[in-house]
Amino acid sequence: MSERDTTADELVPEQQAEIEPAPALTPEVPKFEELAQQAHTAAALDLSRGTVLEVDNLKMYFPVKSGGLIRRKVGDVQAVDGVSFEVPRGGSLGLVGESGCGKSTTGRLITRLYTPTGGRILFEDRDMAKLSKRELKPLRREIQMIFQDPYTSLNPRHTVGAIIGAPLEVHKVVPKKQILPRVQELLEVVGLNPEHYNRYPNEFSGGQRQRIGIARALTLNPKLLVADEPVSALDVSIQAQVINLLQDIQKEFDVAFLFIAHDLAVVRHFCPEVAVMYLGKIVEIGDRDSIYAHAHHPYTQALLSAVPDIKQAAIGGRRERIRLEGDVPSPINPPSGCRFRTRCPIAQDICARHEPPLLQIGKRHKVACHFPGPIGAHPDAPITARLLGTDEVGNPDPGATPSPQITNKPGFDDTWFDLDAKTFGRA
Ligand SMILES: Nc1ncnc2c1ncn2[C@@H]1O[C@H](COP(=O)(O)OP(=O)(O)OP(=O)(O)O)[C@@H](O)[C@H]1O
Ligand code: SF4
Ligand SMILES: [Mg+2]
Repeated sequence: MSERDTTADELVPEQQAEIEPAPALTPEVPKFEELAQQAHTAAALDLSRGTVLEVDNLKMYFPVKSGGLIRRKVGDVQAVDGVSFEVPRGGSLGLVGESGCGKSTTGRLITRLYTPTGGRILFEDRDMAKLSKRELKPLRREIQMIFQDPYTSLNPRHTVGAIIGAPLEVHKVVPKKQILPRVQELLEVVGLNPEHYNRYPNEFSGGQRQRIGIARALTLNPKLLVADEPVSALDVSIQAQVINLLQDIQKEFDVAFLFIAHDLAVVRHFCPEVAVMYLGKIVEIGDRDSIYAHAHHPYTQALLSAVPDIKQAAIGGRRERIRLEGDVPSPINPPSGCRFRTRCPIAQDICARHEPPLLQIGKRHKVACHFPGPIGAHPDAPITARLLGTDEVGNPDPGATPSPQITNKPGFDDTWFDLDAKTFGRA
Protein backbone atom coordinates (compact mmCIF):
# COMPACT_ATOMS: atom_id res chain seq x y z
CA MET A 1 0.00 0.00 0.00
CA SER A 2 1.43 3.41 -0.88
CA GLU A 3 1.65 6.28 1.58
CA ARG A 4 -1.09 8.12 -0.32
CA ASP A 5 -3.44 5.14 0.15
CA THR A 6 -3.07 5.23 3.93
CA THR A 7 -5.78 7.08 5.82
CA ALA A 8 -4.87 9.07 8.92
CA ASP A 9 -7.16 6.89 11.05
CA GLU A 10 -5.19 3.74 10.24
CA LEU A 11 -1.97 5.16 11.65
CA VAL A 12 -0.46 4.98 15.11
CA PRO A 13 -0.26 8.45 16.82
CA GLU A 14 3.33 9.33 15.83
CA GLN A 15 2.56 8.37 12.25
CA GLN A 16 -0.39 10.75 12.26
CA ALA A 17 1.88 13.52 13.45
CA GLU A 18 4.10 12.97 10.43
CA ILE A 19 1.44 12.53 7.81
CA GLU A 20 -0.99 15.23 8.87
CA PRO A 21 0.51 18.11 6.88
CA ALA A 22 0.81 15.94 3.76
CA PRO A 23 -0.49 17.56 0.58
CA ALA A 24 -2.92 14.71 -0.01
CA LEU A 25 -4.99 16.06 2.88
CA THR A 26 -4.96 19.66 1.70
CA PRO A 27 -6.34 21.07 -1.55
CA GLU A 28 -3.21 23.12 -2.35
CA VAL A 29 0.00 21.15 -2.89
CA PRO A 30 2.85 23.10 -1.29
CA LYS A 31 6.09 23.47 -3.22
CA PHE A 32 9.04 21.44 -2.01
CA GLU A 33 11.36 24.41 -1.52
CA GLU A 34 8.82 26.46 0.42
CA LEU A 35 8.56 23.60 2.88
CA ALA A 36 12.25 22.79 3.04
CA GLN A 37 13.33 26.40 3.43
CA GLN A 38 11.08 26.99 6.41
CA ALA A 39 13.77 25.24 8.39
CA HIS A 40 16.86 24.98 6.18
CA THR A 41 18.51 27.14 3.57
CA ALA A 42 20.01 25.54 0.48
CA ALA A 43 23.33 23.78 1.12
CA ALA A 44 26.50 25.80 0.35
CA LEU A 45 29.63 24.72 -1.50
CA ASP A 46 32.74 24.26 0.67
CA LEU A 47 35.85 23.19 -1.24
CA SER A 48 38.32 23.99 1.53
CA ARG A 49 38.55 20.37 2.70
CA GLY A 50 39.42 18.66 -0.58
CA THR A 51 37.56 15.69 -2.07
CA VAL A 52 36.43 12.41 -0.58
CA LEU A 53 35.64 10.70 -3.89
CA GLU A 54 37.13 11.01 -7.34
CA VAL A 55 35.53 9.09 -10.20
CA ASP A 56 37.71 8.92 -13.29
CA ASN A 57 36.45 7.73 -16.69
CA LEU A 58 34.13 5.18 -15.11
CA LYS A 59 32.49 2.64 -17.44
CA MET A 60 29.92 -0.08 -16.97
CA TYR A 61 28.97 -2.20 -19.97
CA PHE A 62 26.43 -4.95 -19.29
CA PRO A 63 26.81 -7.80 -21.82
CA VAL A 64 23.80 -8.58 -24.01
CA LYS A 65 23.56 -12.28 -24.86
CA SER A 66 21.75 -14.08 -27.69
CA GLY A 67 18.91 -16.51 -26.92
CA GLY A 68 19.17 -20.27 -27.42
CA LEU A 69 21.39 -22.91 -25.89
CA ILE A 70 24.74 -21.37 -26.69
CA ARG A 71 24.37 -17.83 -25.43
CA ARG A 72 26.85 -15.66 -27.25
CA LYS A 73 27.59 -12.08 -26.39
CA VAL A 74 25.98 -9.95 -29.10
CA GLY A 75 26.56 -6.48 -27.70
CA ASP A 76 26.75 -4.32 -24.60
CA VAL A 77 24.40 -2.04 -22.73
CA GLN A 78 26.69 0.98 -22.34
CA ALA A 79 25.00 2.06 -19.12
CA VAL A 80 27.87 4.27 -17.92
CA ASP A 81 30.47 5.34 -20.44
CA GLY A 82 33.39 7.48 -19.32
CA VAL A 83 31.96 9.37 -16.36
CA SER A 84 34.31 11.62 -14.32
CA PHE A 85 33.51 13.77 -11.29
CA GLU A 86 34.53 14.63 -7.74
CA VAL A 87 32.58 14.80 -4.48
CA PRO A 88 33.89 17.35 -1.93
CA ARG A 89 34.57 16.05 1.59
CA GLY A 90 31.39 16.57 3.63
CA GLY A 91 29.65 18.06 0.55
CA SER A 92 27.14 16.80 -1.98
CA LEU A 93 27.01 16.32 -5.70
CA GLY A 94 23.64 15.83 -7.39
CA LEU A 95 23.28 13.40 -10.30
CA VAL A 96 20.27 14.06 -12.51
CA GLY A 97 18.91 12.88 -15.85
CA GLU A 98 16.06 10.98 -17.45
CA SER A 99 15.19 7.40 -16.57
CA GLY A 100 17.76 4.91 -17.86
CA CYS A 101 20.62 7.42 -18.24
CA GLY A 102 22.85 5.49 -15.83
CA LYS A 103 22.41 7.26 -12.48
CA SER A 104 21.74 4.16 -10.37
CA THR A 105 24.43 2.18 -12.17
CA THR A 106 26.93 4.94 -11.29
CA GLY A 107 25.83 4.77 -7.64
CA ARG A 108 26.07 0.99 -7.59
CA LEU A 109 29.56 1.11 -9.07
CA ILE A 110 30.73 3.51 -6.38
CA THR A 111 29.40 1.25 -3.64
CA ARG A 112 30.98 -1.64 -5.60
CA LEU A 113 27.72 -3.54 -5.91
CA TYR A 114 29.00 -3.80 -9.52
CA THR A 115 32.55 -4.21 -10.73
CA PRO A 116 33.27 -1.53 -13.33
CA THR A 117 34.22 -2.35 -16.91
CA GLY A 118 36.78 0.44 -16.78
CA GLY A 119 37.90 3.57 -14.96
CA ARG A 120 38.92 4.44 -11.42
CA ILE A 121 36.97 5.08 -8.22
CA LEU A 122 39.36 6.88 -5.91
CA PHE A 123 37.99 6.90 -2.38
CA GLU A 124 40.38 8.38 0.16
CA ASP A 125 43.10 7.90 -2.47
CA ARG A 126 42.49 4.14 -2.91
CA ASP A 127 41.21 2.84 -6.24
CA MET A 128 38.12 0.86 -5.23
CA ALA A 129 37.57 -0.28 -8.82
CA LYS A 130 40.47 -2.70 -8.56
CA LEU A 131 40.14 -4.04 -5.02
CA SER A 132 39.23 -7.65 -4.26
CA LYS A 133 36.24 -8.53 -2.06
CA ARG A 134 38.51 -8.98 0.96
CA GLU A 135 40.30 -5.68 0.37
CA LEU A 136 36.96 -3.94 -0.12
CA LYS A 137 35.46 -5.05 3.20
CA PRO A 138 36.89 -2.28 5.41
CA LEU A 139 36.08 0.35 2.77
CA ARG A 140 32.47 -0.82 2.46
CA ARG A 141 31.87 0.57 5.93
CA GLU A 142 32.85 4.01 4.70
CA ILE A 143 30.43 4.15 1.75
CA GLN A 144 26.79 3.33 2.36
CA MET A 145 23.67 3.51 0.24
CA ILE A 146 20.18 4.88 0.88
CA PHE A 147 17.63 3.36 -1.49
CA GLN A 148 14.56 4.86 -3.12
CA ASP A 149 11.88 2.56 -1.89
CA PRO A 150 11.44 2.43 1.88
CA TYR A 151 8.76 -0.25 1.37
CA THR A 152 11.03 -2.83 -0.22
CA SER A 153 14.48 -1.94 1.09
CA LEU A 154 13.71 -3.08 4.68
CA ASN A 155 13.25 -6.76 5.52
CA PRO A 156 9.65 -7.01 6.79
CA ARG A 157 10.51 -10.02 8.99
CA HIS A 158 13.21 -8.22 10.97
CA THR A 159 12.67 -5.72 13.75
CA VAL A 160 13.96 -2.21 13.28
CA GLY A 161 16.60 -2.91 15.92
CA ALA A 162 17.87 -5.94 13.99
CA ILE A 163 17.88 -3.98 10.71
CA ILE A 164 19.83 -1.02 12.05
CA GLY A 165 22.11 -3.16 14.24
CA ALA A 166 22.99 -5.72 11.52
CA PRO A 167 26.00 -3.78 10.09
CA LEU A 168 27.44 -3.50 13.62
CA GLU A 169 27.24 -7.28 14.00
CA VAL A 170 28.63 -8.06 10.55
CA HIS A 171 31.59 -5.72 10.92
CA LYS A 172 32.03 -6.49 14.65
CA VAL A 173 32.78 -2.87 15.44
CA VAL A 174 31.24 -2.78 18.93
CA PRO A 175 30.74 -5.41 21.65
CA LYS A 176 27.30 -7.07 21.43
CA LYS A 177 25.90 -5.31 24.48
CA GLN A 178 26.60 -1.92 22.93
CA ILE A 179 24.54 -2.63 19.81
CA LEU A 180 21.13 -1.77 21.32
CA PRO A 181 22.23 1.58 22.82
CA ARG A 182 23.79 2.51 19.46
CA VAL A 183 20.57 1.52 17.62
CA GLN A 184 18.51 3.64 20.00
CA GLU A 185 20.88 6.57 19.59
CA LEU A 186 20.50 6.33 15.80
CA LEU A 187 16.70 6.10 16.04
CA GLU A 188 16.77 9.33 17.98
CA VAL A 189 19.11 10.98 15.46
CA VAL A 190 16.67 10.26 12.63
CA GLY A 191 13.69 11.54 14.64
CA LEU A 192 12.12 8.22 15.66
CA ASN A 193 11.19 6.98 19.11
CA PRO A 194 14.19 5.00 20.47
CA GLU A 195 11.79 2.70 22.34
CA HIS A 196 10.40 1.42 19.02
CA TYR A 197 13.46 -0.68 18.22
CA ASN A 198 11.51 -3.95 18.43
CA ARG A 199 8.73 -2.91 16.07
CA TYR A 200 8.54 -4.15 12.47
CA PRO A 201 8.81 -1.99 9.33
CA ASN A 202 5.10 -2.36 8.50
CA GLU A 203 4.26 -0.52 11.73
CA PHE A 204 5.79 2.67 10.31
CA SER A 205 4.70 5.16 7.64
CA GLY A 206 6.66 5.65 4.40
CA GLY A 207 8.56 8.68 5.72
CA GLN A 208 9.40 6.86 8.93
CA ARG A 209 10.62 3.82 7.01
CA GLN A 210 12.94 6.03 4.99
CA ARG A 211 14.25 7.37 8.32
CA ILE A 212 14.96 3.76 9.32
CA GLY A 213 16.85 3.29 6.03
CA ILE A 214 18.87 6.42 6.81
CA ALA A 215 19.65 5.19 10.35
CA ARG A 216 20.83 1.87 8.89
CA ALA A 217 23.11 3.70 6.44
CA LEU A 218 24.60 5.75 9.31
CA THR A 219 25.31 2.80 11.61
CA LEU A 220 28.96 2.51 10.65
CA ASN A 221 29.73 6.25 10.50
CA PRO A 222 30.31 6.37 6.73
CA LYS A 223 32.21 9.15 4.99
CA LEU A 224 30.06 8.95 1.85
CA LEU A 225 26.38 8.19 1.35
CA VAL A 226 25.07 7.31 -2.08
CA ALA A 227 21.41 8.30 -1.88
CA ASP A 228 19.53 6.88 -4.89
CA GLU A 229 16.24 8.78 -5.24
CA PRO A 230 15.86 8.88 -1.43
CA VAL A 231 12.65 10.92 -1.40
CA SER A 232 10.99 10.09 -4.74
CA ALA A 233 8.53 7.66 -3.19
CA LEU A 234 7.36 10.17 -0.54
CA ASP A 235 4.73 12.91 -0.47
CA VAL A 236 6.12 16.42 -0.92
CA SER A 237 5.79 17.52 2.73
CA ILE A 238 7.47 14.32 3.91
CA GLN A 239 10.14 14.87 1.23
CA ALA A 240 10.99 18.24 2.77
CA GLN A 241 11.22 16.70 6.26
CA VAL A 242 13.52 13.92 5.05
CA ILE A 243 15.71 16.32 3.06
CA ASN A 244 16.04 18.57 6.10
CA LEU A 245 16.98 15.52 8.16
CA LEU A 246 19.65 14.61 5.59
CA GLN A 247 21.04 18.15 5.84
CA ASP A 248 21.21 17.89 9.64
CA ILE A 249 22.89 14.51 9.37
CA GLN A 250 25.39 15.82 6.85
CA LYS A 251 26.53 18.42 9.37
CA GLU A 252 26.42 16.20 12.43
CA PHE A 253 28.14 13.18 10.89
CA ASP A 254 30.33 15.14 8.43
CA VAL A 255 29.22 12.83 5.65
CA ALA A 256 29.37 13.54 1.91
CA PHE A 257 26.56 12.68 -0.49
CA LEU A 258 26.24 11.51 -4.05
CA PHE A 259 22.60 12.46 -4.36
CA ILE A 260 20.78 10.78 -7.24
CA ALA A 261 17.40 12.24 -8.12
CA HIS A 262 15.21 13.24 -11.02
CA ASP A 263 13.55 16.10 -9.11
CA LEU A 264 15.52 19.22 -10.03
CA ALA A 265 13.98 21.34 -7.23
CA VAL A 266 15.07 18.83 -4.57
CA VAL A 267 18.57 18.61 -6.06
CA ARG A 268 18.90 22.41 -6.24
CA HIS A 269 18.12 22.66 -2.53
CA PHE A 270 20.37 19.84 -1.36
CA CYS A 271 23.33 19.95 -3.76
CA PRO A 272 25.71 22.89 -4.30
CA GLU A 273 27.02 21.04 -7.39
CA VAL A 274 25.13 19.05 -10.02
CA ALA A 275 26.03 16.65 -12.84
CA VAL A 276 23.56 16.10 -15.67
CA MET A 277 23.67 12.68 -17.36
CA TYR A 278 22.35 11.60 -20.74
CA LEU A 279 22.67 8.05 -22.08
CA GLY A 280 25.62 7.02 -19.91
CA LYS A 281 27.58 10.27 -20.12
CA ILE A 282 27.85 13.53 -18.20
CA VAL A 283 26.76 16.32 -20.53
CA GLU A 284 27.05 19.22 -18.09
CA ILE A 285 28.44 19.59 -14.58
CA GLY A 286 28.92 22.59 -12.38
CA ASP A 287 27.97 24.56 -9.33
CA ARG A 288 24.32 25.36 -8.65
CA ASP A 289 24.42 28.76 -10.33
CA SER A 290 26.13 27.47 -13.48
CA ILE A 291 23.59 24.68 -13.93
CA TYR A 292 20.36 26.35 -12.80
CA ALA A 293 20.99 29.94 -13.94
CA HIS A 294 23.48 29.51 -16.81
CA ALA A 295 22.93 26.09 -18.36
CA HIS A 296 24.81 25.88 -21.67
CA HIS A 297 23.81 22.39 -22.85
CA PRO A 298 20.58 22.01 -24.86
CA TYR A 299 19.65 18.92 -22.82
CA THR A 300 20.04 20.67 -19.44
CA GLN A 301 18.05 23.58 -20.84
CA ALA A 302 15.26 21.23 -21.89
CA LEU A 303 15.20 19.51 -18.48
CA LEU A 304 15.03 22.85 -16.66
CA SER A 305 12.35 24.20 -18.95
CA ALA A 306 10.10 21.29 -17.97
CA VAL A 307 10.10 22.27 -14.26
CA PRO A 308 7.52 25.00 -13.56
CA ASP A 309 8.95 26.12 -10.22
CA ILE A 310 12.54 26.47 -11.38
CA LYS A 311 12.98 30.20 -11.97
CA GLN A 312 12.75 30.92 -15.67
CA ALA A 313 15.85 33.08 -15.43
CA ALA A 314 17.55 29.70 -15.28
CA ILE A 315 17.09 29.28 -18.99
CA GLY A 316 17.65 32.77 -20.27
CA GLY A 317 14.31 34.23 -19.27
CA ARG A 318 12.48 31.98 -21.73
CA ARG A 319 9.11 30.86 -20.47
CA GLU A 320 8.14 28.27 -23.05
CA ARG A 321 8.89 24.64 -22.51
CA ILE A 322 11.52 23.12 -24.79
CA ARG A 323 10.01 19.85 -25.95
CA LEU A 324 12.46 17.13 -26.87
CA GLU A 325 11.49 15.14 -29.95
CA GLY A 326 11.68 11.35 -30.01
CA ASP A 327 12.68 8.77 -27.41
CA VAL A 328 16.00 8.24 -25.66
CA PRO A 329 18.01 5.96 -28.00
CA SER A 330 19.10 2.50 -26.87
CA PRO A 331 22.30 2.38 -24.82
CA ILE A 332 23.11 -0.84 -26.74
CA ASN A 333 23.52 1.12 -29.95
CA PRO A 334 23.96 4.78 -29.02
CA PRO A 335 24.16 7.47 -31.74
CA SER A 336 27.63 8.29 -33.13
CA GLY A 337 29.30 11.51 -32.01
CA CYS A 338 27.09 13.33 -29.54
CA ARG A 339 24.60 10.90 -28.03
CA PHE A 340 22.02 13.66 -27.69
CA ARG A 341 22.08 14.60 -31.37
CA THR A 342 18.97 12.59 -32.37
CA ARG A 343 16.87 14.80 -30.08
CA CYS A 344 18.86 18.03 -30.10
CA PRO A 345 17.11 21.05 -31.63
CA ILE A 346 20.42 22.64 -32.75
CA ALA A 347 22.43 19.62 -33.96
CA GLN A 348 24.74 20.07 -36.98
CA ASP A 349 27.00 17.78 -39.05
CA ILE A 350 29.93 17.81 -36.63
CA CYS A 351 27.65 16.43 -33.90
CA ALA A 352 27.34 13.09 -35.74
CA ARG A 353 31.05 12.89 -36.47
CA HIS A 354 32.69 13.79 -33.18
CA GLU A 355 31.81 13.30 -29.57
CA PRO A 356 31.95 16.74 -27.93
CA PRO A 357 34.57 16.86 -25.14
CA LEU A 358 33.40 17.76 -21.62
CA LEU A 359 35.04 21.18 -21.80
CA GLN A 360 35.52 23.46 -18.80
CA ILE A 361 33.93 26.82 -19.69
CA GLY A 362 33.87 28.49 -16.26
CA LYS A 363 35.42 28.29 -12.82
CA ARG A 364 33.21 25.33 -11.88
CA HIS A 365 31.32 24.60 -15.07
CA LYS A 366 31.91 21.98 -17.77
CA VAL A 367 29.76 21.26 -20.80
CA ALA A 368 29.89 18.61 -23.54
CA CYS A 369 28.49 20.38 -26.61
CA HIS A 370 30.02 21.65 -29.85
CA PHE A 371 27.74 24.71 -29.64
CA PRO A 372 27.50 25.62 -25.93
CA GLY A 373 25.61 28.76 -25.01
CA PRO A 374 22.56 30.24 -23.31
CA ILE A 375 19.21 29.45 -24.93
CA GLY A 376 18.81 31.40 -28.16
CA ALA A 377 22.51 32.36 -28.11
CA HIS A 378 24.23 29.12 -29.07
CA PRO A 379 27.15 29.94 -31.41
CA ASP A 380 26.70 29.39 -35.16
CA ALA A 381 30.09 27.69 -35.55
CA PRO A 382 31.34 24.81 -33.38
CA ILE A 383 33.68 26.14 -30.70
CA THR A 384 35.27 22.69 -30.46
CA ALA A 385 36.40 22.28 -34.10
CA ARG A 386 39.80 23.90 -33.64
CA LEU A 387 40.35 22.03 -30.36
CA LEU A 388 39.57 18.71 -32.06
CA GLY A 389 41.68 19.55 -35.13
CA THR A 390 38.76 19.56 -37.59
CA ASP A 391 36.93 21.99 -39.83
CA GLU A 392 33.44 23.21 -38.94
CA VAL A 393 31.62 20.14 -40.23
CA GLY A 394 34.02 17.78 -38.51
CA ASN A 395 36.35 16.78 -41.36
CA PRO A 396 40.03 16.57 -40.42
CA ASP A 397 41.80 19.91 -40.88
CA PRO A 398 45.42 19.30 -41.92
CA GLY A 399 46.42 22.76 -40.61
CA ALA A 400 45.07 22.17 -37.08
CA THR A 401 46.33 20.02 -34.23
CA PRO A 402 44.06 18.65 -31.50
CA SER A 403 44.43 20.56 -28.23
CA PRO A 404 46.13 18.76 -25.32
CA GLN A 405 43.84 20.74 -23.02
CA ILE A 406 40.90 18.49 -23.90
CA THR A 407 40.75 15.88 -21.14
CA ASN A 408 38.14 13.88 -19.29
CA LYS A 409 39.68 14.14 -15.85
CA PRO A 410 37.60 14.66 -12.71
CA GLY A 411 37.40 18.06 -11.06
CA PHE A 412 38.06 21.57 -12.30
CA ASP A 413 41.23 23.42 -13.41
CA ASP A 414 42.38 26.97 -12.74
CA THR A 415 42.29 27.60 -16.49
CA TRP A 416 39.29 27.11 -18.73
CA PHE A 417 38.02 27.80 -22.21
CA ASP A 418 36.67 31.35 -22.42
CA LEU A 419 33.69 31.22 -24.77
CA ASP A 420 33.97 34.92 -25.70
CA ALA A 421 37.74 35.01 -26.30
CA LYS A 422 37.62 31.44 -27.76
CA THR A 423 40.84 30.54 -26.01
CA PHE A 424 42.00 29.01 -22.73
CA GLY A 425 42.68 31.55 -19.98
CA ARG A 426 43.77 31.61 -16.37
CA ALA A 427 41.47 32.61 -13.54
N1 LIG B 1 22.02 -5.36 -14.44
C1 LIG B 1 21.78 -4.81 -15.64
N2 LIG B 1 21.90 -5.54 -16.78
C2 LIG B 1 21.69 -4.99 -18.00
N3 LIG B 1 21.34 -3.69 -18.19
C3 LIG B 1 21.20 -2.93 -17.10
C4 LIG B 1 21.40 -3.43 -15.77
N4 LIG B 1 21.19 -2.41 -14.89
C5 LIG B 1 20.86 -1.34 -15.62
N5 LIG B 1 20.86 -1.64 -16.94
C6 LIG B 1 20.57 -0.71 -18.05
O1 LIG B 1 21.50 0.35 -17.93
C7 LIG B 1 20.89 1.58 -18.25
C8 LIG B 1 21.01 2.54 -17.09
O2 LIG B 1 20.19 2.07 -16.02
P1 LIG B 1 20.10 2.80 -14.61
O3 LIG B 1 19.25 1.98 -13.73
O4 LIG B 1 21.48 3.12 -14.14
O5 LIG B 1 19.36 4.16 -14.99
P2 LIG B 1 18.78 5.31 -14.05
O6 LIG B 1 19.33 6.59 -14.58
O7 LIG B 1 19.05 4.99 -12.63
O8 LIG B 1 17.23 5.25 -14.36
P3 LIG B 1 15.97 5.53 -13.37
O9 LIG B 1 15.84 7.04 -13.30
O10 LIG B 1 14.84 4.90 -14.08
O11 LIG B 1 16.26 4.90 -12.05
C9 LIG B 1 19.44 1.27 -18.62
O12 LIG B 1 19.36 1.13 -20.02
C10 LIG B 1 19.20 -0.07 -17.95
O13 LIG B 1 18.26 -0.82 -18.68
S1 SF4 C 1 26.99 18.56 -29.56
FE1 SF4 C 1 25.48 18.98 -31.14
S2 SF4 C 1 23.90 17.46 -30.85
FE2 SF4 C 1 25.14 17.48 -29.00
S3 SF4 C 1 24.08 18.88 -27.66
FE3 SF4 C 1 25.58 20.08 -28.72
S4 SF4 C 1 24.55 20.89 -30.53
FE4 SF4 C 1 23.27 19.25 -29.71
MG1 LIG D 1 17.80 4.62 -10.98
